[in-house]
Amino acid sequence: MRTLSTPPGPKGHLLGDNLREYARDPLGFLSGCAREYGDVVGLRFMSQNLYLLSDPGLIEYVLVENNRNFVKTRILKRNRRLLGDGLLTSEGEFWRRQRRLAQPAFHRKRVAAYGEVMVAFAERSLEAWRDGQTIDVHEEMMHLTLEIVAKCLFDADVGSRATDVGKAMKVALKDFSSQRRLVRIPRGVPTPRNIRFELAARRLDDIVRTIIEDRRKSREDRGDLLSMLMLAEDEGGGRMTDKQLRDEVMTLFLAGHETTANALSWTFWLLSQTPHAETRLAEELERVLGGRTPTVSDLPDLPYLGRVVKESMRLYPPAWVVGREAIAECEVGGYRMPAGTTALMSQWVMHRDPRYHDNPELFDPDRWTAEYAKALPRFSYFPFGGGPRQCIGAGFAMTEARLILATLAQRFRMDLAPGQRVEPYASITLRPKEGIRMRLVERSQRG
Ligand code: HEM
Repeated sequence: MRTLSTPPGPKGHLLGDNLREYARDPLGFLSGCAREYGDVVGLRFMSQNLYLLSDPGLIEYVLVENNRNFVKTRILKRNRRLLGDGLLTSEGEFWRRQRRLAQPAFHRKRVAAYGEVMVAFAERSLEAWRDGQTIDVHEEMMHLTLEIVAKCLFDADVGSRATDVGKAMKVALKDFSSQRRLVRIPRGVPTPRNIRFELAARRLDDIVRTIIEDRRKSREDRGDLLSMLMLAEDEGGGRMTDKQLRDEVMTLFLAGHETTANALSWTFWLLSQTPHAETRLAEELERVLGGRTPTVSDLPDLPYLGRVVKESMRLYPPAWVVGREAIAECEVGGYRMPAGTTALMSQWVMHRDPRYHDNPELFDPDRWTAEYAKALPRFSYFPFGGGPRQCIGAGFAMTEARLILATLAQRFRMDLAPGQRVEPYASITLRPKEGIRMRLVERSQRG
């Protein structure tokens, strides 16, 4: 190999190197590094070397072209207590088999069939909404998307446990970001934080166990993802163990609702801040649907709706960074990347890069013309990641987000509640730190 240098980067502190600055403000820190040092930035968090990659071609190299030389990062794997060896965290042949097993549940036709469930649950939320009422839109969306994923994939009704799941998720995500500390206390030590986390994890375990046990009791093949996973056999005729089943269900349960809830919450907030976009959306919905229930087949006739969701995920990508660890030494952007180095690729950084988007901070759904999307380099916009580990639920999420938005925005406009500060909280996902309190304004009833 040629002699290659290490990439430039910010000087670190003696203790923890760059971790302290990163932990204080992950979004600002990474954006600042990319602007100041370029497309490959060398960072060090304690004993871990990281390269922040901010060039679409380099991101494609890691996620697609050379994906076999990379695995998921240790930091994600440290969260085994919750996700176990599910689709998000497993590797190699085991992952490939599980992905093949789950794939049919995400087929386009299958997702289209889920459309009815998505709209039915959205309409059920509407029943409780009143003109002038203030809601926490993030809490509402978490509840709604959780019910939808549980019903579509596992034919389970979790409505009564949704608040429990919401609370547990909050604790788990806080726990994840606390791992950015210089001193990490092992899980086994009974600190208040560890106890809170363990209790939250047990609540989630309990819900997932109930879903699986209920299906076992009924012994029915309902043709949904849960039945597919339970009935699948490997070459030797063996079934998935209880632990494997638990890990897959938990992963889909968690990965399948919080991200979409975040996307919708950010979207409602951005619309409340951009009256002309809000009006355009309401007009499109009125013209195409005229008050009737939306269906999947309406979506191609609602182009502005699609652009709103795309633009919202550009500015507030629910998955704001992905990481991969190099198995063997390789070359990235002219620099030597030793084995064990983590490549960080941030949607937050890329989606706001002025090289790819004019006025990058502006919420402008109109920018998403077909030509605009076509002219963008592939990994300048990647809300669902890319390559073999691309989000399995991308089609599900896009269908769901648009149908929910169409159903709710047709009936109500949302105004930000007075005094509400909206701030992103970057844990595994990007969620509104203190929720988003919004006042509902019912659209005038048509004659
Ligand atoms: C707006 C909503 C969503 C966003 C932004 C999102 C984003 C992502 C991203 C970026 C990845 C790749 C992570 C990586 O490369 O390390 C991913 C993976 C994954 N997502 Fe999503 N996701 C969303 C919705 C969903 C839904 C609805 C489901 C399931 C119903 C889901 C299930 C998964 C699973 C299982 C993986 C792991 C796939 C694998 O490695 O084979 N996601 N998601």
